[in-house]
Amino acid sequence: CGIIGYIGTDRATDVILDGLSSLEYRGYDSAGIAINDRGLRIRKAKGRLSNLRDQIEECQFPEGHVGIGHTRWATHGEPSDVNSHPHLDEGRHIAVVHNGIIENFSELREELQAKGVHFASETDTEVIPNLMYQYYRQCGNAMEAIRLAAGDMRGSYALGVIFADDEERLYAVRKDSPLILGRGDGENFIASDIPAILPYTRDIYLLNDNEIAVLGRKTIEIYGAGGEKVEREIFHVHWDVKAAEKNGYEHFMLKEIFEQPEVVRATIVPRLSMNEEQVKLDRIHITKEELDNTNRIYIVACGTAYHAGLVGKYLLEKMARLPVWAETASEFRYRDPVLDSHSLVIVISQSGETADTLAALRMAKRAGARVMAIVNVVGSTMDREAENVLYTWAGPEIAVASTKAYSCQLAAMYLLVLYLSRMQGTLSREEFAILRQELYALPEEIQSILERAESIRHIVASTVQKSVFYIGRGLDYYASMEGSLKLKEIAYIHSEAYAAGELKHGPIAMIDGDTLVIGLITQQELTEKTVSNLKEVKARGAKVICIAEEGNEKVTEAADEVIWIPKSHPMAASLLANIVQQLFAYYMAVKLGNDVDKPRNLAKSVTVE
Ligand code: G6P
Repeated sequence: CGIIGYIGTDRATDVILDGLSSLEYRGYDSAGIAINDRGLRIRKAKGRLSNLRDQIEECQFPEGHVGIGHTRWATHGEPSDVNSHPHLDEGRHIAVVHNGIIENFSELREELQAKGVHFASETDTEVIPNLMYQYYRQCGNAMEAIRLAAGDMRGSYALGVIFADDEERLYAVRKDSPLILGRGDGENFIASDIPAILPYTRDIYLLNDNEIAVLGRKTIEIYGAGGEKVEREIFHVHWDVKAAEKNGYEHFMLKEIFEQPEVVRATIVPRLSMNEEQVKLDRIHITKEELDNTNRIYIVACGTAYHAGLVGKYLLEKMARLPVWAETASEFRYRDPVLDSHSLVIVISQSGETADTLAALRMAKRAGARVMAIVNVVGSTMDREAENVLYTWAGPEIAVASTKAYSCQLAAMYLLVLYLSRMQGTLSREEFAILRQELYALPEEIQSILERAESIRHIVASTVQKSVFYIGRGLDYYASMEGSLKLKEIAYIHSEAYAAGELKHGPIAMIDGDTLVIGLITQQELTEKTVSNLKEVKARGAKVICIAEEGNEKVTEAADEVIWIPKSHPMAASLLANIVQQLFAYYMAVKLGNDVDKPRNLAKSVTVE
């Protein structure tokens, strides 16, 4: 979900709607807004933000200069007008927008009901303004009421709060859910994410867990959980406003796919200078001694980032000879992995806020393990909590389906592999120099694939199969998983990734004339093996598209169509194959008329479990 709040001299409704449109990628089941204009005025609408915008235009919404807005990804309660945020207390004294989940909400709700409070919705959020009002009635102090209510709540929350009897203040509080404060000139902001306020300011305060912020037009004050005032330094965001705009592309996703040569270069080149024999990783502090003392490495992440983690696992084992396990965060955190001071846990996350990944990081820290975060958003919670950080310089990624962040995660992983391999002594100077050349060449190789985008669009135009298998071996298998995820996410086509050699142990039974099989062959030594698997499916009627390296003519034996990628080092070749897969999924989604940037049921950043 996304939160924005504004206090200033402009029409709050305009600023909030504008901010919500940049946050819509965080959830789009419903949206709502509350303004204080001599009392709390609320509008909410199910569905896309445009529904809310239409309603606001029709009803001549009031002028007020302070307000909060929310765009929702439904957790408790179906998407509907009544379940949308903001929520009010029964007497309409306090309005709240909330990200996260209040775990003890049923208890709190019962306690409030016993005191005679009536609830209008099924949500956990509605208990918050009611609870705050109980305290406010007793103590008459807004900040104290928020502090006491927060003390009663279990779970995760980022809240924006306004009080009906105070047009001069906007409040914010957070625990385990992201929230930032933006400092403007005579106006101030709260938001769950930087892009929402980027057009207004790049001066940010990062709010920590359990802190409460009080914003006036010209002031921002931050208080700790005990009510003590806290001093916070300004954090200046370097992202360009333009980076969060479409710049003439039809979709953010397409723009982000085309940005990949540039962002992969930005991630690699500054860390890999021509005459050095080691990679320079500024916030990685692991020493050789610590590495020797490490007996297992876990790479933990969700979604696309997890797929980057699998590649990391493969390469760290192969090249640095380190034992590595890669796992999804939602599994890792609920089992009992062997974690101690001999473990290193690497989390990967574009947003740096994904709830399960963050929980895994914290679990690792509690167990005394070393932690490292590969993150894109500077200042995000994972960035702040991990002792070692490696940034992916992808810039803001707005499309829900991740593309450029994934390629930068792979690029960062290659650097880490080189770094640790050098430390381990498993990579000679000569081999290092060869790999450096290969990594330097990557941006141009990506570019040459992008130049063939039109031919991929043509192939998509003639593809009608109902079900898709992506198959490959080794790194190609991990890349297939990402290709398949992309197709599911935005084209809503059922697809599955399978290790090519495993197909015959079951799934081959599903292959018929309606199936498309996309075979990835970038690992030369596995060509023959995968080619024979492709022949097996072709013989059963499937259409076969192969993504392979130029010059590897053998693949033509088994494919109806081949999409060629430039020849590159085996380490990085599957990154290139994935660029093809991104374009394939993108053109398929466009062909099917789907909302590419905001696919149904998904959210960019999942800050709930
Ligand atoms: C969501 C997004 C995915 C993303 C995953 C992990 O599910 O829809 O695209 O890969 O979260 O996000 P993170 O920010 O941790 O990389």
